[in-house]
Amino acid sequence: MNILLTGASGFIGRHILAELERGGHRVIACCRHPDRLYFKSENTTALMLDFTDLTEVYAWLPHLTDIDVVINCVGIIGETQTQRFAAVHRQAPIALFRAASQAGVKKVIQLSALCADATAVTPYHLSKKTADDALRKLEIDWYILQPSLVYGHGAHSMPFLQALSALPLLLTIDGGRQSLQPVHIDDVVAAVARCLQPSAPVRQTLALVGPEAINYIDLLKKLRRRLGKTSAPTVSLPENLARPVAWLGKLLGEQVLNPDNIKMLQAGNSASSAPLTQWLGRPPLSLSRQLLRPADQAERWHAGLYFLRPLLRLSIAMVWLWSGLVSLFFYPHELSYDLLAGTGISGIAAPLALYGLALMDIALGLATLMLSRPRRLLLLQFGIVLLYTLTVGISLPEFWLHPFGPIVKNIPLLIALLVSIQLEGEQS
Ligand SMILES: NC(=O)c1ccc[n+]([C@@H]2O[C@H](COP(=O)([O-])OP(=O)(O)OC[C@H]3O[C@@H](n4cnc5c(N)ncnc54)[C@H](OP(=O)(O)O)[C@@H]3O)[C@@H](O)[C@H]2O)c1
Repeated sequence: MNILLTGASGFIGRHILAELERGGHRVIACCRHPDRLYFKSENTTALMLDFTDLTEVYAWLPHLTDIDVVINCVGIIGETQTQRFAAVHRQAPIALFRAASQAGVKKVIQLSALCADATAVTPYHLSKKTADDALRKLEIDWYILQPSLVYGHGAHSMPFLQALSALPLLLTIDGGRQSLQPVHIDDVVAAVARCLQPSAPVRQTLALVGPEAINYIDLLKKLRRRLGKTSAPTVSLPENLARPVAWLGKLLGEQVLNPDNIKMLQAGNSASSAPLTQWLGRPPLSLSRQLLRPADQAERWHAGLYFLRPLLRLSIAMVWLWSGLVSLFFYPHELSYDLLAGTGISGIAAPLALYGLALMDIALGLATLMLSRPRRLLLLQFGIVLLYTLTVGISLPEFWLHPFGPIVKNIPLLIALLVSIQLEGEQS
């Protein structure tokens, strides 16, 4: 079959793409960044598309010629300045579904979310529900798959929960009694594969859930046990305190942490697994059995480093900001000029260097805080710190023997920058 797969670079999209390749289908794999697309088959062609530009039917039609099936795996867990639920979950998918119907596409498979139904209250669920409802109204064979939290290789949410479980305190909201029913990615892929079969009943909405529900706190404890850690005290935050904490997390770049997600957690996320069992012809995979497998080293490192990543970035930003402010306002300028003279900078060049470098430090600090992908910036900082260290180390060698170690302390800073470059390069 000829299949247009959107969100092919995402967690679920990547697994579905691999399954489609195994099945010998010809796939147009849509994504915003083809470099993030993993594909190896010559049957797969990458197509660079951004949903925010594709909110009208006519924009989709040229991409749907000879397409038999559309699978939509695009989604965002929280809004940003450029990514709004209105465009990404609602307008673009609805335009895609209508264009598919006009272009004679046979089936549309929509990856929605559990609770995108009459109980929906958050903008995430409501936007998904609006697109699902629009699809249901079209004269086309459709499947609306509504997963609970999906886990398995490459997932985002379960590693986040595992990182939470590795903290010295187990943070919960209102005692952590919220119900979750995670589903394995292999079952999500199997459900999609079943939709592609000619014999599969059409116009179906299907909850994708694991066979058993589990409480949030019990899940955290089991994840912690997997990491080989001893038990930790539990701290229960009331919901109205958890919301500001979530905002803080969001400010530090953690998309999963936002007040709406707390609301979704509070509402619970479970359903009967009987329909999925019937759909697959077998029960879905059991999370409890998966949790018995001890975490490997990569998982343990990930869990331990997860919350250190934003702190490291914050501390690097502070070093630049504070250095710039100290040079400008607190350290006597005459003493700075003496130091600069030691490196061969004097006369009119000295104030230029002092003010120029201080402003550059402040700009670097602010950019470290603000850029969503600061990897190149960190690399530049590595070069600057190395240059500072070599310049001062060679022109003012007495600083190597200074008891406060002003030069030698740059060595761990350089390594911290290298660690941050690696961590920020991670696609979470
Ligand atoms: N994972 C879960 O636990 C879970 C649970 C319930 C429902 N779902 C739903 O299942 C779907 C897939 O989830 P996922 O876990 O695979 O999410 P994901 O890993 O974050 O992937 C999202 C995909 O959407 C793409 N995307 C985001 N904004 C886009 C835009 N403006 N234009 C084009 N593509 C864009 C991303 O492409 P880039 O690489 O360009 O960013 C990526 O390929 C989503 O709709 C999600 O809401 C997931």
